[in-house]
Amino acid sequence: MKKILITGGAGFIGSHVVRRFVQQYPDYQIYNLDKLNYAGNLQNLSDIEQNPNYHFIMGDICNMALVQNLFNKHALDSVIHLAAESHVDRSISHPIDFVQTNVLGTVNLLNVAKEAWGKMPSDNRFYHVSTDEVYGPLGVNGLFTETTAYDPKSPYSASKASSDHFVRAFHNTYNLPIVISNCSNNYGPNHFPEKLIPLAINNIKNKQPIPIYGKGENIRDWLYVIDHARAIDTIFHQGINGETYNIGGFNEWKNIDLIHLLCRIMDEAMKRPSGSSAELITFVNDRSGHDYRYAIDATKLVNELGWQPSIKIEEGLKKTVTWYLENEQWLRHVTSGEYQAYYQTHYNKNI
Ligand code: NAD
Ligand code: DAU
Repeated sequence: MKKILITGGAGFIGSHVVRRFVQQYPDYQIYNLDKLNYAGNLQNLSDIEQNPNYHFIMGDICNMALVQNLFNKHALDSVIHLAAESHVDRSISHPIDFVQTNVLGTVNLLNVAKEAWGKMPSDNRFYHVSTDEVYGPLGVNGLFTETTAYDPKSPYSASKASSDHFVRAFHNTYNLPIVISNCSNNYGPNHFPEKLIPLAINNIKNKQPIPIYGKGENIRDWLYVIDHARAIDTIFHQGINGETYNIGGFNEWKNIDLIHLLCRIMDEAMKRPSGSSAELITFVNDRSGHDYRYAIDATKLVNELGWQPSIKIEEGLKKTVTWYLENEQWLRHVTSGEYQAYYQTHYNKNI
């Protein structure tokens, strides 16, 4: 029996984590705190929102009184913290938003947890969900391990690195029981179509250009989101207090090669002539300070906690494409309004 605060549970990864915990652990009470920014969407959780062990609270992690009230009212014993501003391109245009939520919001949660748990001798856990981007860009060789020095290069990764440092500082200074994971690029259902894969799916569907930054040579390590949610479950239950675990797919792709694979899958799924999606590929101005390569060494998680990625990229992309084609209403809902303004501002200078 646990009472877990999951932050950012209405977002992409958070919704898969909430669903997993609500369904796998009916004796746990799950409290989802989310302010529902542009990426937060309660439709992501419509299948489980009636479950008796699921509770939604709309609110900001920066609101100290609200978070204190949640801890006091529900006697929360654990936190799984995912709430964040998550898109690198938005961090370049609006860096302060990232400091506000990712740094100050995280410190607020840590501080309230410290105050609440200082008086409770039970089995607490503050799980901070972070990213491989804190390690900065790799060259052609090498992998990120848990001891790789931090070297963040974008406002987003700098804000996540800062939050990781605060989490470790609260462990070192106040003995707060923490665990951190740093994961590579996720893909799958419910991914907001500002990120490469869902943006490309949406644009191919609508026969719009697929914007590829620079020459498409940058490399990312992709993991299906359900495998990330499984890893979070494993680390939450078995991870050692104070430790960090890297999570990755052992699955590096150049952006251009990944998009060609996606185009082939889209041609088949939409029954369009072979090669027609790839004709939409359009090279555009590069992202400012674009990190060249990320690649995770997840050996510690595999060897110590027995986790493995289970979904291979082609299978994962097919599942993802099927989900987007079957959920037109979701896609239409999230690409109306603010999305159009974002798209115009960010891409129309390019395309
Ligand atoms: P997302 O943008 O899809 O979702 C973020 C969620 O947080 C949204 O529901 C949003 O409403 C909520 N939120 C934002 N600010 C908030 C605030 N101040 N108070 C309360 N809620 C707030 O992001 P995501 O891709 O699901 O990422 C989730 C976490 O995982 C982030 O911490 C991110 O850094 C990390 N991560 C993401 C990836 C990836 O590939 N997407 C990889 C590794 C780590
Ligand atoms: O590595 C983990 C990180 O992965 C997470 O911490 C971030 O929250 C998540 O957004 C993601 O960051 P990236 O910047 O790697 O993801 P994005 O989908 O924005 O971009 C993937 C690659 O594709 C990157 O090299 C930039 C490129 N790209 C992206 C967009 C949006 C394009 O070429 N064109 C685009 O339009």
